[in-house]
Amino acid sequence: MSTTTPNPAPAGEIDSSRYFWAPGLEARAADFAFGLGAGDYLEFGVYDGSSFIQAYHAQRYAHQKALKQYGFLMSDQVRANQERIWQTRRFFAFDSFEGLPDVKGPDQNGPFKRGDYSCSLDTVRTNLATAHVDLDRVSFIKGWYQDTLTPSTREAHRMQSAAIVHIDCDLYESAKVALNFITPLLQDGTVIIFDDWFQFRGHPQKGEQRAFREWLVTVPGWIATEYHKEGTWRNSFIINRRLDEA
Ligand SMILES: C[S@@+](CC[C@H](N)C(=O)[O-])C[C@H]1O[C@@H](n2cnc3c(N)ncnc32)[C@H](O)[C@@H]1O
Repeated sequence: MSTTTPNPAPAGEIDSSRYFWAPGLEARAADFAFGLGAGDYLEFGVYDGSSFIQAYHAQRYAHQKALKQYGFLMSDQVRANQERIWQTRRFFAFDSFEGLPDVKGPDQNGPFKRGDYSCSLDTVRTNLATAHVDLDRVSFIKGWYQDTLTPSTREAHRMQSAAIVHIDCDLYESAKVALNFITPLLQDGTVIIFDDWFQFRGHPQKGEQRAFREWLVTVPGWIATEYHKEGTWRNSFIINRRLDEA
């Protein structure tokens, strides 16, 4: 296995539109998040980096496209602010890089087993670099979620807010820990993508669906609106701050 990373091409020469599917959720979330302002991208369940690469380039492209189409309407200050939003967005990759943990509780006897989707961190790093993802902006958080998804991780990385969250860790227990981790990072308009919403034959008491429903009741200050679905398994939501309605 190679541990070297290829020489990246000059950033300006890379055509990000080659790296993601234009009608897909990564692209829609990227366009939506362009209007949000600050916030990072957090992916829980990275495997070989395929969706991470898509997310990075979809967001880069959304930024470039918006400036190209509407930049002439923007004041220097607005334009500089949009540049800053993109330049300061960070990309967090959370994974064991050893595949799935033991499958417990409601998810037993389903399609997943321990060790599925195992891919080493070295390989993921190489895959991202080959696809011209700027590794200086990526933080790899390696380990089991019960160990890594802690307040000290948020503090160590000075995490403030999430623009887009991708939950692709398949299992109820993993998704629940991931959702608890992002609670302090929510902002009005955070997009959450669930890659495996309709796994387990679409059963709402298993997997990511169950984790999301249980988590939502623990965050009464926030409401969720279903956003786009994609393909066989995926779904997404926009999270908003609940208004005090007298
Ligand atoms: C389906 S794969 C992710 C696929 C990836 N997003 C893509 O589309 O290329 C699921 C990943 O979740 C990770 N995972 C699930 N539960 C985890 C846990 N509790 N701790 C760490 N990693 C976990 C596995 O290691 C695996 O890489």
